Amino acid sequence: MAIFPIRVFGDPVLRQRAAEVEDIDSRVVRLSEEMIETMRDAPGVGLAAPQVGIERRIFVYDVGDGPKTVINPAVVESSGEWEYEEGCLSVPDLHWPIIRPKEVHLVGIDLQGNDISIEADELLARVFQHELDHLNGMLLLERLDKDQRKQAMGVLRARALPDTAFPEGLSRGAGAGSESSSGAIGSSLGA
Ligand code: NI
Repeated sequence: MAIFPIRVFGDPVLRQRAAEVEDIDSRVVRLSEEMIETMRDAPGVGLAAPQVGIERRIFVYDVGDGPKTVINPAVVESSGEWEYEEGCLSVPDLHWPIIRPKEVHLVGIDLQGNDISIEADELLARVFQHELDHLNGMLLLERLDKDQRKQAMGVLRARALPDTAFPEGLSRGAGAGSESSSGAIGSSLGA
């Protein structure tokens, strides 16, 4: 079982709209297993296929009650507002308070080809929305307000520079307010 490298900000695969899955064949089943393995290893609470370089509408998630796979997902209804400290495995070690709908109704199909219909709220609803964004080629950076986004782009640009661009004793991204010191997910979402 392979653990995939996770694609990060700047990789064009993260900007593409992923294609519908037409046949749930053994390759799709294997992909799902390897994505779950990769999500566990990261660790994260969700992972979408484009994050491992595959442009197909599949994501996996685990909010504590075991890993699950959703194929060709869609949110058919959403309501409320909820602020959550949201992060992304493709934008490592950064997170921001982001407001999105609190409840969503997700539909899709599972690995056996059965219809899925889940009414989710709070964390699970957030994971669903975050992963669906990935399948549509959107990163959480596009969900930030103007100031958050400006600060985020500053950190990401600094990371893209060679280490020699930083004075001695300063690590990449030092001084950024929202940079996680531990790199751990903590209470925020890495997905
Ligand atoms: Ni993500």
